[in-house]
Amino acid sequence: MFKTLPLRVLPICHALKRFARFQSTSKSITVDAKSYPSDEWTNIPPFILDLITRKLHKNHNHPIGILHDLIKSEMSGMGYTIYDDFHPIVTKYQNFDSLGFPEDHVGRSKSDTYYFNKNHLLRTHTSAHEQECFINSKTPGYLITADVYRRDEVDRTHYPAFHQMEGARIWPRGDLEQIRKDIEAIPKTNIIVEDPFRDQPVTENNPAQEHMTLEEIKLVSTHLKKTVEYVVNQVFEKARESAKLAGSTEQYLTEPLRVRWVEAYFPWTGPSWEIEVWWKGDWLECCGCGVVQQQVLLNSNLGDDKLSWAFGIGLDRIAMLLFGIPDIRLFWTQDERFHKQFQQGRINTFVPYSKYPGVKRDVSFWLNNDVKLHCNDLMEIVRTHAGDTAESVVLVDEFTHPKTGKQSQCYRINYQSMDRNLTNAEINEVHKKVEKDLVENFKIEIR
Ligand code: PHE
Repeated sequence: MFKTLPLRVLPICHALKRFARFQSTSKSITVDAKSYPSDEWTNIPPFILDLITRKLHKNHNHPIGILHDLIKSEMSGMGYTIYDDFHPIVTKYQNFDSLGFPEDHVGRSKSDTYYFNKNHLLRTHTSAHEQECFINSKTPGYLITADVYRRDEVDRTHYPAFHQMEGARIWPRGDLEQIRKDIEAIPKTNIIVEDPFRDQPVTENNPAQEHMTLEEIKLVSTHLKKTVEYVVNQVFEKARESAKLAGSTEQYLTEPLRVRWVEAYFPWTGPSWEIEVWWKGDWLECCGCGVVQQQVLLNSNLGDDKLSWAFGIGLDRIAMLLFGIPDIRLFWTQDERFHKQFQQGRINTFVPYSKYPGVKRDVSFWLNNDVKLHCNDLMEIVRTHAGDTAESVVLVDEFTHPKTGKQSQCYRINYQSMDRNLTNAEINEVHKKVEKDLVENFKIEIR
């Protein structure tokens, strides 16, 4: 069973273990019969490899799959080809270079991204597939849904694997009338939109691409924004309908849906924005987007006479809100008390089945001056040994010794299972392994 698996696996590089679809040795990692030789970039722990087989977005009775199906059905007939089966291992070129990521972009670093080796990695976003979809799609638009992976902190809303849905649309340049018609064809919504940039999409912080006219930018971005607003509206309206049907009388159910647009930066779009949705008292960031840079279209052999937009929606946070899921780890549980609550085509509120107490343990240490310890390295060591029982990891104290100049850190780890009680003995064992791993691999000195 997945929940206990990570407790038994060895740290990266020392592992020699067979799983259903992958094998990991110190020399290479084999996934789906393809072997990736390890090198100084390799940083994928076995518990991450175990996630790539899960494909939650294709499970019609799972919140992620239900949300995916809902968006797909709301957008059907609008000219988008659906792709939802791309393999998560991509090249550095697909994930970064084809999109014009600067060489020193932090997303490329080993502390943020899972690498098999210097050329292969787990995609960090669905945009990694933009180029192949621009090349292959026979329709004016496409939608890509996939699991994506990022080394990240550990808490209730962050998990190293999550899901995105990418959308894109393309037009030949010179037929602005077609874009106007396509804008008219997007179904209207009652949503309240705050958008200081609708009529002035270009600002000092969010420059135009030189080859585009202001008229082109306005039309492409209006089509983009109305499409995103339509998707957001359909998803949140469906959630409200379900809540009303379930007898809820909360105030938010009768207020019109509010969204706002803010400026953003992505290397492969310009100008770029994000949409935020006002939901139960908070602004929720849910989708980055923009006018696709011409270089991406040139890289896709589409020539310099096309106009295009792209967006990327994060599905997990939205699904957490819609289904009332308090902890992102629940998406990955194999406990049937979770799974039996969800059914194809239905948005319903999750009923917590039990709450087991957490066990907190601190790890305090002096850092080694010569070996850098990134907080994501520590998070990962905890996840490698504790698996999904790592509920949260927080840096609670940090100081530099005035005399020796040595740096001290203290992290508080909350071990908590969603499915059962953890024993002190078991947690002590795991915590010892965390400390040992830190000492051996990062030369820290436990205080
Ligand atoms: N890939 C971006 C992200 O992960 C989102 C995005 C997609 C932005 C497409 C612009 C265009 O945040």
